[in-house]
Amino acid sequence: MCGIVGFIGGEQAAPVLLDGLRRLEYRGYDSAGLAVFGEQQGLQLVKAKGRLAVLSDLVDGGAKLEGTVGVGHTRWATHGEPSDANSHPHLSNSGRIAVVHNGIIENYMEIKEYLQSQGVVFHSDTDTEVVAQLLDYYYQGDLVEATFKVLHRIEGSYALGILCSDHPGQLIAARKDSPLVLGYGEGCNFLASDVTALIKYTKTVSYMEDGELAILTRDGIQVYDALLQPVEKERSTVDWDIADAEKGGYEHFMFKEIMEQPEAVRKAIAPHIQNGQVVLDGLGLDADFLQSLSRLYIVACGSSYHVGVVGKYQLEQLLRKPVEVVLASEFRYSNPLVDENSLVIVISQSGETLDTMAALREARRLGAKTLAIVNVVGSSIAKEADYVLYTWAGPEIAVATTKAYSTQLAVLMLFGIWTARLLGRLTPEREAELLGEMLRIPDKIAEILRHTEEIQYYASLYFNHESIFFMGRNLDYAMGLEGSLKLKEISYIHSEAYAAGELKHGTISLIEDGTLVVALASYAPLFDKDVSNVVEVKSRGARVLGLTTRSRAEEMAKHADSLIVIPDTDLMFLPSLAIVPLQLFAYYVALMRGCDIDKPRNLAKSVTVE
Ligand code: F6R
Repeated sequence: MCGIVGFIGGEQAAPVLLDGLRRLEYRGYDSAGLAVFGEQQGLQLVKAKGRLAVLSDLVDGGAKLEGTVGVGHTRWATHGEPSDANSHPHLSNSGRIAVVHNGIIENYMEIKEYLQSQGVVFHSDTDTEVVAQLLDYYYQGDLVEATFKVLHRIEGSYALGILCSDHPGQLIAARKDSPLVLGYGEGCNFLASDVTALIKYTKTVSYMEDGELAILTRDGIQVYDALLQPVEKERSTVDWDIADAEKGGYEHFMFKEIMEQPEAVRKAIAPHIQNGQVVLDGLGLDADFLQSLSRLYIVACGSSYHVGVVGKYQLEQLLRKPVEVVLASEFRYSNPLVDENSLVIVISQSGETLDTMAALREARRLGAKTLAIVNVVGSSIAKEADYVLYTWAGPEIAVATTKAYSTQLAVLMLFGIWTARLLGRLTPEREAELLGEMLRIPDKIAEILRHTEEIQYYASLYFNHESIFFMGRNLDYAMGLEGSLKLKEISYIHSEAYAAGELKHGTISLIEDGTLVVALASYAPLFDKDVSNVVEVKSRGARVLGLTTRSRAEEMAKHADSLIVIPDTDLMFLPSLAIVPLQLFAYYVALMRGCDIDKPRNLAKSVTVE
């Protein structure tokens, strides 16, 4: 995925665009570019492979580009390698029209071949360039008309920003399956992939819907539907601040976001807990439907999928109904056994992960009801699901998720407890007890975060290992999956998570002198079995970093070489605590290995390709 931004107003556009791109860099960071129109210099295009800093240096922080209207882009390559030529904006051959794009034009090859047969020469390997060249092809003085024709000709997903030197008083935006936000300023207006890019300038926004086209001028924004009929957009006010999208004194966004978890989890749960009961007013699901369910599915990707793995253990205990947890990329092609008696819960921080979106559509097509647990308000997944629960984690900028993961866990648990009551599976006393403990979780996370130096020390012992295993049973296994993903994605250490009982069915042959095993042993009912597994791997030469609760620390300390201790809690909430030291461990290991923590190689914050 990529980040796009557009500005039209009275001040110099390039510094504003660069500032917006800086905040969108988490969406992609292999190249970046700007197109700005100035009265003196006309349409100026600058693009460069590499981080945004390279582009910024080229244009002296924007000072070199004259003009008050422009578009910018930060790229995560899909079609064509990262290079200057493949960077956006793409310019049409007439030199008149510049285009930035997020998404994928699926029929670009066919259009490209057609245009080539008409003599159009292409200068990049991207799918996006066809939009610029096709605009030129259709353009006869009316940019909106040409855009309208292009939108009918292209297939796939897009958020587009279009600037034409014949019409410097306007910017055009269009959206299908890729997020696009419009920002309303005073004497200026904005478009962006994400509100973080424009929050410094305005908090009044509206979210474009699929099929909409917008014309931005200095004085206003007019939106049209797919038939070019004017649409009155609802405006909303963003309820978080620029400080939330800045590092606030921390060296990395990831560390800041780890530290924000107590507050984020509190914000996610507190409004839904009243008088010892979960309140999900306005969700719209009713007891009869929940009662009729034969099965629940949790469908997601990456860390959000790992939340689902935790959720399977928890929800099956609470509801005594089968819960299938499926990777979204597998679900969509597996002819799933989903029908009108299924509830499909999709989990997505960004709300724009393509596989999750496709799985959601497939579930709806098969007649299931869908519930989305999403962080980004107004995102595609939130819009298309039948029911939505927001996680309210605020902007998450680091590519590796931390606070969004923790709030997803919390919201899924809220949903589980609420449903269990409606199904008559939870006594009021047990519900009040669970929720009492849930409200203490933010403080317990804060307690763990007061001892970061201990985790830092363990990271210093183990950061030079090249292969690390995580093992645990039940919820500890689910935690291991996420702990392992955190570590590998930012530190580039090979790591695998195993259900501890499974290790001896093959993987134990990889354990040799000095191999690091992170042994998760917080789930009390299986603690003795965890200890046996620790003994097993130690007798093969492993070094063991253990993790357990305070009440079992003494016993675990007899077996592990190093030990992380978390506060005691109800079994249901162990994952909310256990994940925090694992996030910190991954962070410090990556720091000690000199990795680019917020922007790990080859990754982007949300994945809008298959
Ligand atoms: C890992 C990470 C990814 C995402 C995955 C799904 O730290 O962030 O694994 O969890 O790409 O993204 P969303 O939740 O936006 O659908």
